[in-house]
Amino acid sequence: MNNYKNVFVVNHPICCHNLSIIRDKNTTAEVFRNAVKRITYLLFYKATEDLELENCSVETPLESCICQRLNSKKEIIIAPILRAGLIFSDIANEIMPFATVRHIGMYRDEDTLTPIWYYNKIPVEFENPEDKIILILDPMLATGNSAIDAIKLFANKKVPQKNIRFVSLISAPEGLEKVQNMFPDVRIITASIDNCLNSSGYIRPGLGDAGDRIFNTVIN
Ligand code: URA
Repeated sequence: MNNYKNVFVVNHPICCHNLSIIRDKNTTAEVFRNAVKRITYLLFYKATEDLELENCSVETPLESCICQRLNSKKEIIIAPILRAGLIFSDIANEIMPFATVRHIGMYRDEDTLTPIWYYNKIPVEFENPEDKIILILDPMLATGNSAIDAIKLFANKKVPQKNIRFVSLISAPEGLEKVQNMFPDVRIITASIDNCLNSSGYIRPGLGDAGDRIFNTVIN
């Protein structure tokens, strides 16, 4: 339980164990990536638990039976925010190989802490927005500024808020508050709500810069 209407914290023991690995500053990039991948499966389990199903008929080797499959009218869109969000997208693709992947390129201006766009693979024409399910992926929900910009991209194309999910490893209360105030029906799935942001917009205790930890570009 937490104080936010639509924030789901996956505090499964496997998540907690792997969070302890990725928070450790001495963890190598290789071990970091593998631990994040293990958490990713559990985050996606939660993020997709309410996807709509439809009945279908299947012939087993013995007889026909009625099964359920994902509603074929719904298009699932995986939208990783570059670059750190890429750590989630391989697993997301593995679990949902039929999904569309639409990358979002933005980085954070370290002075203003606002997102700067440099790439966006979202089509201008977005048909049947009510049939899209959007999973926006970014390991760190810090100030909430990038999350809000990414959500707006889809909300402005008339995708209902309830169809949009934001998946993160670690979230800061400041960012959660901001996103939930602006988009109360967008669901946020995270493995931890940490204490606060520091003056540079980093999550405390957090894990440092997620992109640097994933791609081994930490400068010591
Ligand atoms: N982005 C990161 O990678 N880490 C933080 O703590 C905040 C934003």
